[in-house]
Formats: sequence, structure tokens, C-alpha cells
Amino acid sequence: MLAVDGIRFAYNAKPVLDGVSFDVARGELCSILGNNGAGKSTLLKCLLGILHPQEGSVLIEEEDASRLSRMEIARRMGYVAQKESTSARLTVFDAVLMGRRPHINWGASARDLEVVQEVMESLELEDLSLRYLDQLSGGELQKVVIARALAQEPGIMLLDEPTSNLDLRNQLEVMETVRRAVAERGIAALMAIHDVNLALRFSHKFMLLKDGVIFACGGTEVITPRSMLEVYGVSVEVEKLGERKIVIPLQALEAEKGAEEERHV
Ligand SMILES: Nc1ncnc2c1ncn2[C@@H]1O[C@H](COP(=O)(O)OP(=O)(O)OP(=O)(O)O)[C@@H](O)[C@H]1O
Ligand SMILES: [Mg+2]
Repeated sequence: MLAVDGIRFAYNAKPVLDGVSFDVARGELCSILGNNGAGKSTLLKCLLGILHPQEGSVLIEEEDASRLSRMEIARRMGYVAQKESTSARLTVFDAVLMGRRPHINWGASARDLEVVQEVMESLELEDLSLRYLDQLSGGELQKVVIARALAQEPGIMLLDEPTSNLDLRNQLEVMETVRRAVAERGIAALMAIHDVNLALRFSHKFMLLKDGVIFACGGTEVITPRSMLEVYGVSVEVEKLGERKIVIPLQALEAEKGAEEERHV
């Protein structure tokens, strides 16, 4: 669905991505983990064609992204940015309906309205339908932006910290909705996220970014005390809760000291 090969990207002279390769298949939710400034948002923007990598290739549904127009990319990829600007005096309903824009020729069809309705229900946004975006709380707005990307029904969803402003209930609701969209529609999702436990609970795959390269990529087996120490500089315990793995942060450590103290599960 999405295949990335050897991407290099630098802002002016500052290298951020230094040869990043991976793929995400249909029906797969992949979480990108890495500390602040690791290059997660930069990577997502390279995939979207907002930034242009100096080297490497991106294949979207087997087509070379550099040959696709921004509109063609927009039709294939839904994007939830880390920071959204919301200057428009738009209602929640209209904002979500805007997600249908790549599908709409003249006016919204019954099908467009049905999709919008469905997405708003699944994220419990119906009561806010007629509210203007500048009258929402930070978390409510974040849900609207996610709803808009889901309403687009893209083949690939790119989400940049979609749960960062959400309360506990909404974090679960959003992750469940994304996971359901991935399973039911067979889409591929790539998500930058800081909450390792939320990622562990809902993702199929984990990509750990460090110093411009992928430190590890794979299933839950890549989340270990050693990888958490290397990537975040934090010593953790990794426990099992039934079938699930959970990470318990202990303390921020110097890398050297942490390596001795690490515990494996
Ligand atoms: N427009 C820009 N111009 C120059 N440098 C930038 C620009 N945007 C980001 N950077 C730098 O590139 C690096 C990667 O930034 P990026 O936003 O991709 O990190 P991130 O992993 O998304 O971090 P966070 O978890 O804080 O969102 C950082 O060092 C950042 O300072
Ligand atoms: Mg970011």
C-alpha cells in the first residue's frame, strides 16, 4: 500500500531523515515512535508531498508519489496534522463534509452525507454538528479533524499525534475508530504517537525513529527495555497484562547507566 525506500531529507543543512525505508500493508496500523525532534512529522510530510525528500522514493498504491499531483495524493491519503489552523468560520458538520471534497464533483451526494453522518456518530460528534470550529475545545477540534480525514475514506491515513489533546475516553474512541477503519476498509494507517501504551494496545507494527534512521521496526517484540532506553533515554519495565504488553517508565537515565539496569521480559 505504502512503500518507502531510502528517504533522505534535510532542512537547509540540517539532516533529519538519513535513509528511511519501510512499508505499510493494507489492514495494518503502524505507529511511529521517537523523541521530540526525531523526524516523525517530517517523515509524514515527505510522504504527503508537502516536503520533497532529497533522495529516495515513495510508492503510494504502487505508484511513484513524485509523479502524482497534490490532488491525486490527497485522494489517496488522509492526513491529520499535528497543528491544525482553523481560521475558517466553519461548522463541525461542514468541516467533516470537506473531507469528501476529493470525491465531490458538483454537490454532496446522499452517499457523501451518509459517510459524514457515520463518522460523526462513531466519534460522538453529533451534538457538536452545528457548532463553529472556533467554539470548540482543543480535544473536540482534534476529533473533528480526525473525522474529516476518516470521511475522506482514503486508502492510506497519516496521523500526526491524533490523541495528544484527548481525554482518556476520547483517546480510546479515536484509536478504536482508526483501528476499525483499518480493519473494515482494508486501509493502511501510519501514526506518530508519544503514548507507547496506547500504541501497543492498538497498533500492528511499530517503527522506532532515532537519529534520522529506523532503530527498529516490527511487531510488539521491538518494544523492549533496551529499545526504549536507546530511543527515549528512559529506563522502563515491560510487563505483560494478559495478552498485552505494557511499558512502565522508571526514570530518565544516561544511556550507559541504563544499559546495566535494564530488565527484560
Ligand atoms: N521548518 C523547519 N525548518 C527547519 N528545521 C525544522 C523545521 N521543522 C522541523 N525542523 C527540525 O527538524 C527536526 C525534526 O522535526 P519534526 O517536527 O519532524 O520532529 P517530530 O519527531 O515530529 O517531533 P515532535 O515529537 O516534537 O512532534 C527537529 O530538529 C526540528 O527542529
Ligand atoms: Mg511532530
